[in-house]
Amino acid sequence: MRIGVLTGGGDAPGLNSAIRAIVKRSEEYGYEVVGIRYGWAGLLNLDTVNLRYQDIKWSIHRGGTLLKTSRTNPKKTPGGMDKARRNFEKLGLDALIAIGGDDTLSVAAALSEAGLNIIGIPKTIDHDVPETEFTIGFDTAVNMAMRLIENLQDTADSHSRVFVVEIMGRHAGWIALYSGLAAGADLILIPEEPFSLKEVAEFVKRKVEGGQRSIMIVVAEGALIKDYEGPITKDTSVDEFGHVRLGGIGEFLAKKINEATGVETRSCAPGHTIRGGPPTALDRIVSTRLGIAAVDLVKEGKFGYMVSLKAGRIIPVPLSKVIGRTKTVSKELYEAAKVFFK
Ligand code: F6P
Repeated sequence: MRIGVLTGGGDAPGLNSAIRAIVKRSEEYGYEVVGIRYGWAGLLNLDTVNLRYQDIKWSIHRGGTLLKTSRTNPKKTPGGMDKARRNFEKLGLDALIAIGGDDTLSVAAALSEAGLNIIGIPKTIDHDVPETEFTIGFDTAVNMAMRLIENLQDTADSHSRVFVVEIMGRHAGWIALYSGLAAGADLILIPEEPFSLKEVAEFVKRKVEGGQRSIMIVVAEGALIKDYEGPITKDTSVDEFGHVRLGGIGEFLAKKINEATGVETRSCAPGHTIRGGPPTALDRIVSTRLGIAAVDLVKEGKFGYMVSLKAGRIIPVPLSKVIGRTKTVSKELYEAAKVFFK
């Protein structure tokens, strides 16, 4: 049995743990593992590497992906899907494990529909893949963001300033909400709950009048301002999956707060820094369990599934149920967080 494995989309801490587990379990079963480099690009270009456990054992400590990654979309490359199918055969693969977020998994689902033996593993710091309570990298990103917000709190306190921290997460507010709550932020603004600039300015004024000298506001990069069209973007470019580059709302909001309240306000956008570094133990362990489960599905001959964490158990869910939807923060969860925004 020959299994291919690839990582697609943004890198995330914990990917190496999943790859390592796939290789370890495969060797136990006497299977060979072919690493496909740079996501779907590697399948189109036949850019591969043979993986052996003894060579990658220590990758468990490291963030990023030892297989490299890209946002290549075979559906956007002329003849790309056919080429992917042909190359699957050329490589002599019996199965392919695709580790990625909604974009990578949408290609995985399409190739599975086309008859290839595919298994998916959910990965994204954004945590927006449906049908799973875990996505590789989210926990590490939340912990990184939490620490950065705490660092900023020290300087905000010392200078009696308002700080606006912009946190990645695309069109879902998971990282901003979790890290902001964990760090004790005063206000967290997420895409799921559009806000008005006036309300935020009034919030700051109220806090200052109440005697609070430093205020920590966390804003998700995709947060929406009422009466403004769409999220704030870096430029007009889109990637092969049609995503715009988000960013800039933190700086914009800080300026507006300063103008409306006169309170000294600074912004900080940690950007990609929350996406790197050693994975947390949780990211290492659950990624390992997902990698093992993916190979077990291959052994059972059960294809077209994503391995998922639900209520503490690893279970397969059909890829067709996962794609085309975004898992966002629920009203109920945001209402609970709002207890701290008073
Ligand atoms: O999907 C993960 C993510 O880090 C998002 O939070 C962010 O909007 C995007 O990727 C950034 O993409 P890139 O690494 O291509 O700049």
